Amino acid sequence: MTAPLRRFEDKVVLVTGAASGIGAATAERLAAEGGRILCADLQEEAVAESAKRAAEAGGEAEARVTDVSDPEQVRSCVEACVDRFGRIDVLCNVAGILRFAHTHEMPVEEWNRIVQVNLTGTFLMCQAALPHLLESRGCIVNTSSTSALKGLPYGAAYGASKAGVLALTAAIATEYGRKGVRANAVCPGSISTPMTKDPAFPDDVNMRLVMRHSPLDEFRGPETVAGLIAFLASEDAAHVNGEHVRVDGASLS
Ligand SMILES: NC(=O)c1ccc[n+]([C@@H]2O[C@H](COP(=O)([O-])OP(=O)(O)OC[C@H]3O[C@@H](n4cnc5c(N)ncnc54)[C@H](O)[C@@H]3O)[C@@H](O)[C@H]2O)c1
Repeated sequence: MTAPLRRFEDKVVLVTGAASGIGAATAERLAAEGGRILCADLQEEAVAESAKRAAEAGGEAEARVTDVSDPEQVRSCVEACVDRFGRIDVLCNVAGILRFAHTHEMPVEEWNRIVQVNLTGTFLMCQAALPHLLESRGCIVNTSSTSALKGLPYGAAYGASKAGVLALTAAIATEYGRKGVRANAVCPGSISTPMTKDPAFPDDVNMRLVMRHSPLDEFRGPETVAGLIAFLASEDAAHVNGEHVRVDGASLS
């Protein structure tokens, strides 16, 4: 029998969106590999539950209520992580929101909120964590989406925010790579989480357009993305920088 992977022994990992779905699975996976995890999310009870599960999986974990779109809350979340664990080695930006609407009907407030959480939130977390990642020669894994790579009908704001995450990731990888900090992104698609459970499409949705994003076989669980995030965040990916990797059951192939 092969020994269980322990790639995050003595590493400190900050995971956003950790209360649910892919973020919760990521916190648990990295904890199971020995990481000390700061679980950040808007949802107080659920993020506390995630931290408990992560600690039970083998690592140390703490929960922190944080809105990633709020610069003050982001700064104090990063400070709390460093106060508690002394450093940051890995930042996993997983928090995100999805809303569907006809593009010509989407209220600008809705567009702004999606961009604020998915793109600005990712930027703010990277910005606040980078000084610590430069010290630890750590890395970032951001969460984009297949919608950044292929038009998602009724999802213009979401796809645009996720395409922005890819550009942000590539910029950070290039700017900080020589200083020992890597940045990569995952592009999930068709993952079973609360986000994809009951999507609220417009009443006159054309499902043929939506089905262009279907996987070859079936939806998979969030642990499939967590495994990829764990790889990209680990020393196994030491020479992978500025890359984005799809985990979508070939829905774009
Ligand atoms: N599920 C999929 O098929 C899929 C596909 C592509 C990309 N993604 C991306 O993966 C990430 C995780 O999504 P999921 O499927 O696990 O969804 P989810 O809804 O289960 O989890 C998203 C988490 O983000 C948190 N969150 C939302 N706004 C926040 C904010 N302002 N500050 C802090 N936390 C906030 C939520 O509370 C929730 O816990 C998202 O970025 C999503 O866009 C998911």
